[in-house]
Amino acid sequence: MAEKIVETTGLLGWVDRRFPLTKMFKEHMSEYYAPKNFNFWYFFGSLALLVLVIQVVTGIFLVMNYKPDARFAFESVEYIMREVPGGWFIRYMHSTGASMFFVVVYLHMLRGLFYGSYRKPRELVWIFGVGIFLSLMAEAFFGYLLPWGQMSYWGAQVIVNLFSAIPFIGPDLSLWIRGDYVVSDATLNRFFSFHVIAIPLVLIGLVVAHIIALHEVGSNNPDGVEIKQGPKDKYGRPVDGIPFHPYYSVHDVVGVAGFLIVFAAIIFFGPEMGGYFLEYNNFIPADPLKTPPHIAPVWYFTPFYTMLRATTSDFTWVLSAGAVVAALALFAKGKLSGLWRLAVPAILIVVAILMKTLDAKFWGVVSMGGAVVILAFLPWLDRSPVKSIRYRPSWHKVLYAIFIVDFLILGWLGTQPVTPSSTLMGQIFTTIYLAFFLLMPVWSRLGTFKPVPDRVTFRAH
Ligand code: HEM
Repeated sequence: MAEKIVETTGLLGWVDRRFPLTKMFKEHMSEYYAPKNFNFWYFFGSLALLVLVIQVVTGIFLVMNYKPDARFAFESVEYIMREVPGGWFIRYMHSTGASMFFVVVYLHMLRGLFYGSYRKPRELVWIFGVGIFLSLMAEAFFGYLLPWGQMSYWGAQVIVNLFSAIPFIGPDLSLWIRGDYVVSDATLNRFFSFHVIAIPLVLIGLVVAHIIALHEVGSNNPDGVEIKQGPKDKYGRPVDGIPFHPYYSVHDVVGVAGFLIVFAAIIFFGPEMGGYFLEYNNFIPADPLKTPPHIAPVWYFTPFYTMLRATTSDFTWVLSAGAVVAALALFAKGKLSGLWRLAVPAILIVVAILMKTLDAKFWGVVSMGGAVVILAFLPWLDRSPVKSIRYRPSWHKVLYAIFIVDFLILGWLGTQPVTPSSTLMGQIFTTIYLAFFLLMPVWSRLGTFKPVPDRVTFRAH
C-alpha cells in the first residue's frame, strides 16, 4: 500500500511546481529513514557540517580585512585582532574551527572504523570521505601560510621542499609550486587563492557527494545491521528506521549544544590551547633569514609528520624487507590469478630495490602520503565476516585500542624535537600503523565472531 501523497498549496505549492523543494526535504529529511539506534558517535557528521559552515562564514569576514601581500599579511592579521570590531572573535573562531574540524573529523572517521561503516554498500561514502580528509589537509596547509608568521613561513618551506625529493621532476616541481626559489609573495598569493576558492569548492562538492552517496544506500549503525534488509511496515519502510526529521534533527541539536560549549570555552579562555591550536612561533613575523630551531606542524598533521621523519635510510631496510616478505607471501599463497600472481610480487621486489637506491626522503614522503591513501582501501582490506566492532572477537578490540594509542603517540612525537630515541620510537610506531592496515586482510578474519542479531539492538532513553 502506498502512502497518500499530499499536494502542497500556497507559496510552497508555487515553488514545488517549479523546484523539487518538498520532494528533496522528504527524501533527505522527513522521509529519510535512519536506524533508531544511533549513539554518541553519530553526532560528528552533523558537527563536521556545522564546522564547515563556521569556517566558510568566518573566512568570508576575515577576507574583508586580510591582505594577501607578504609586506602586509602579518600586520593585517594584527589589525583584525586589535582594530576591527569583533575581529578577534572572528579570527579565533576560524583558528579554533580549523583544529576542531580535525577533532570532529578524526572522531567521525574513528566511528566509521568501529562500526565498519566503510564496508559494502558504503565504499563510496568512505572514499568521498577520504577525499574530504585530503582536501581538509590541503585547506589547512594553505591557510596556515596566510598569517605570515615564522611557523607559517618555515612550515610551508619544509613541506614544499618535500616535493623536491621526487625523482627527476622533484626540484622543478617544488620551484613551480612556490613560484620562486624560496617561499615568497608569489607563494602567498597562490596559497591564498587555493585557500579561499579552489579547495573550498572541492571540499563542498565532496561533502555534497558524500551525503548523496550516504542517502542512496542508507546509514549504517552501531550494530552494523542493514535495516533495509530487515522487516518493513505496510508502507515498505524499515521498522528499525525512524525519520531523520524530526527525530535526529532534534537529537543533533544536543550534539551541537555540547560542541558549542566546548568551542566557546576554547575561544574565550584558551584560543592558543597551549601552543597546539596557535603556535607561539607564529606570533613572530616571517623572517626568511632566520630559521626557527624547532619546526613542527600543527597537531593534526604531526602523526603523519612523524612518519616522514621516521623514514631514515636505516628504516628503508625495514620497509624494503616488508615489501620482500609481502612479495614472497603473495606468491606462495597463490591467491592472485593468472598474470597477477607474477606481476604483483615482481612489482613489490622492484619497489624493495628502489627503497635502497632512491633517497630515503622520497620514501618518507611516500610513507606519509601512503598512510592517508591506505584509508581509501579499507573497504577491501577488512575481510571480517561482521561489520561492527560489537560482534568481533575481543582481541580485535585490543588491536583497535593499540592502533588509537599508536596514532596518539605518533602525534605527540611529531611535536617533539628529533633525537635518536624519538626517531627510533617514530619508526616503531610507524611500523605498527602500517602493519595495522597492511595485515588487516589476514587478522580481520581470524578469531571467534559473535552472532549478529537480525534487528538492531535498541533501548529507549
Ligand atoms: C567535512 C567533513 C565531513 C562532513 C561534513 C561529513 C558529513 C557526514 C554526515 C552529515 C554524515 C551522516 C551523519 C553521520 O553518520 O554522522 C556522514 C556519514 C559518514 N561519513 Fe562523513 N563527513 C565528513 C568527513 C568524513 C571523512 C573524512 C570520512 C572518512 C574518511 C567520512 C566517512 C563517513 C562514513 C563512512 C559515513 C557513514 C557512517 C554510517 O552510516 O555509519 N566522513 N558524514
